[in-house]
Amino acid sequence: MKFKYNILLLTFLILTFLTICSYPQQMKSKIKDKMMKEQITKAVCVIQPTKGHKAHGLIIFSKVENGIKVVANIHGLKSGKHGFHIHEYGDCSAVDGTSAGGHFNPENINHGGPMDNVRHVGDLGNIIADVYGNVEFEFIDSSLNFGGQHSIIGRAVIIHEGEDDLHTQPTGAAGPRAGCGVIGIAKQ
Ligand code: CU
Ligand code: ZN
Repeated sequence: MKFKYNILLLTFLILTFLTICSYPQQMKSKIKDKMMKEQITKAVCVIQPTKGHKAHGLIIFSKVENGIKVVANIHGLKSGKHGFHIHEYGDCSAVDGTSAGGHFNPENINHGGPMDNVRHVGDLGNIIADVYGNVEFEFIDSSLNFGGQHSIIGRAVIIHEGEDDLHTQPTGAAGPRAGCGVIGIAKQ
């Protein structure tokens, strides 16, 4: 009788031990599942005018197979080309937009155009406003990301008064900042 009891107790202890051992592993894979599910697929940026400018609008970023699709609807611009960049800091608090810092440049390389191999991650070139000052623009950029070193989440989009010439260092000589908005996570 006592022998039987000991076996039972031993079995119970072994099972308890195995359950406790496997717990961290289970937790780990649960956390991983959650992270995978919560991967960001969409972000949004509301452009507000800086002092003395009228640029305003909306930019939607969405994850696609070969990068991030950027859809921009901007109004209140002078007709023509306007530098369009992602800047380092998601801070539009300065009236002239300078609080957003320089172009988002995690590789620490030279300014360029969106099609160049050497470019800032934030170098999205120019948007072109029609005679009414409106922009409807859509393109895919393979340098942008919602995670890792190239993540644009929490950074700013700046729309410039002038044209980005795509080569002047380090800004493209695009002139003052006409609009600024912070890139935030959107409802997926
Ligand atoms: Cu800029
Ligand atoms: Zn640049």
